[in-house]
Amino acid sequence: MPLLRTTRSLRTTALAGLLLAGTALAPMASATAAPLYKNPRASVADRVTDLMARMTLDDKVGQMTQGERGAATPAQSAAARLGSILSGGGSTPTPNTPAAWADMIDAYQKAATSTGLGIPIIYGSDSVHGHNNVYGATVFPHNIGLGAANDPRLVEKIGAITADETAATGVKWAFAPCLCVARDDRWGRTYESYGEVPANAVANSVVIEGLQGRALGDPTSVLATAKHFIGDGGTTGGDDQGNTQISLEELRRIHLPPFRAAVAHGVGSVMISFNSWNGVKDHGNKFLITDLLKGELGFSGFVVSDWNGIDQIDGQEGFTAAEVKQAVNAGIDMVMVPYDYQKFVATLKAEVLNGDVPMSRVDDANRRILTKKFELGLFERPYTDRSLQKDFGSAAHRAVARQAVRESQVLLKNDGVLPLAKQNNKIFVAGKNANDMGNQAGGWTLTWQGQSGERVIPGTTILDGIKAGAGKGTVVTYDRAGNGIDRSYQVAVAVVGETPYAEGQGDRPNGLGLDAEDLALVGKLKASGVPTVLVTVSGRPLDISAQLPSVKGLVAAWLPGSEGAGVADVLYGDYNPTGKLSFTWPKSSAQEPINAGDGQQGLFPYGYGLSYRRHHR
Ligand code: GLC
Repeated sequence: MPLLRTTRSLRTTALAGLLLAGTALAPMASATAAPLYKNPRASVADRVTDLMARMTLDDKVGQMTQGERGAATPAQSAAARLGSILSGGGSTPTPNTPAAWADMIDAYQKAATSTGLGIPIIYGSDSVHGHNNVYGATVFPHNIGLGAANDPRLVEKIGAITADETAATGVKWAFAPCLCVARDDRWGRTYESYGEVPANAVANSVVIEGLQGRALGDPTSVLATAKHFIGDGGTTGGDDQGNTQISLEELRRIHLPPFRAAVAHGVGSVMISFNSWNGVKDHGNKFLITDLLKGELGFSGFVVSDWNGIDQIDGQEGFTAAEVKQAVNAGIDMVMVPYDYQKFVATLKAEVLNGDVPMSRVDDANRRILTKKFELGLFERPYTDRSLQKDFGSAAHRAVARQAVRESQVLLKNDGVLPLAKQNNKIFVAGKNANDMGNQAGGWTLTWQGQSGERVIPGTTILDGIKAGAGKGTVVTYDRAGNGIDRSYQVAVAVVGETPYAEGQGDRPNGLGLDAEDLALVGKLKASGVPTVLVTVSGRPLDISAQLPSVKGLVAAWLPGSEGAGVADVLYGDYNPTGKLSFTWPKSSAQEPINAGDGQQGLFPYGYGLSYRRHHR
């Protein structure tokens, strides 16, 4: 076609003219073509290289900085070129809805992508048992219960649902799973551990596959975080953020295998632990972070510090240039400041300019961070995929959570009182944890510490489940304190245990016994002569040795989350209990730390759990 040919020949002449005139082809070509890093068909490695070549030191230092949403508005975040924003536990928009979360995060993305290079942020939140910061999310059993369930396939599915609900709100980075191996049950984070031996965390690290999906770029995928590296569950006395005083051999044998497994699962990030190892804070330990994690384990994702974690290196309040230098040179790639991000940015920049932090370290950190952002598809799809919100807290998701509750129940004693008859029964339910969504969900639920409250989140309490399961001719009475109990009742169910806590606020150095309210209740029920089933809702084994002889049945329910009816499914025998202890149950806290193979005789051994002899309908 003459026109086309003519056009082409004209263009050829023009190009020749430009070249002859010494005008580089690039400006004309770049005038129309996008920079390579914006080309989704280019390799991630090439996109990272191209982008980094365009970044200033301010850009690169900003990428290594994570601020809390309360510290930086979208405009401030973009001005500082922050690489990430997080929600600390309970740091939520108002209203606390998926739509409001998406609006909040999309505002950060709009500001970030409106800058010169348009590098999107990655938003992080603690989805540790579902997207637990958001009202209406499906809240799964905490890890201690999933360890007892011993069903990695189910845990992978839990990861996928958690990712789905997390991504639905615009959060593309979950600070989960905790792969800690809790060795002393007095530790406040015992419930975040799958079990007291590495095998439990190794088996359940498959949750990473669920969280990160088939490909990180899938709409429902989120970046997972193996945490906390390393030794958080091994501190002396179970002291949260304390000192893990063990040999390198024991560190490798007990606490390292879950991280090796996480790397094998392709985990995208690792969070460093607050604890010290033999007196040196992990956050400043180059041997652990660079030699062991990145070198020996070959971890190629990026390393993030914990909250204020670098502040603790010198044991003094606040962070110093020396601590920034030590933490970044140790191998930390992104620092969860989380508030004084301007001071951090200025300090790190100064440390680079004075040569104390080599540019090669900054470039390595940026390459790791940007690689994950490209793999997540954040450059192509920075905004929330709101189509996912239709499944948020769905019945289908809750059904999976209820199955996880069933499988996590551990039957520890049964003198024939279980399963409960559904028909023609008279059941007295008592205890502070029988009808309290907050207590059964535990910490990291809506707020950092969690909270008591009958209906703080939607779902079913254990009492709801017992009432719903009652059949023809059955009466169910509830009184928290057991008032009204008499011999007309055929069985009593006392749901006792702990109220919510998180981290150090859950440390119990002074004993693991029941509180006064629970002790009074057990005494009252014992005096009534009514056969009693004790159900413990707790983040760890409790000292119930003195109460055990006076009850006919004992079930460890752990922290079941939003679908408490799953506990009733086991009490009624609709599900024949399969749970097995992933923690040795101590006779008392005097035995702590007590773990499989240490020669001590607990009340119930690791791996113990009963079933009903015949399946009941
Ligand atoms: C907390 C926890 C860590 C969590 C982080 C962000 O202090 O140690 O597990 O991911 O801060 O909330």
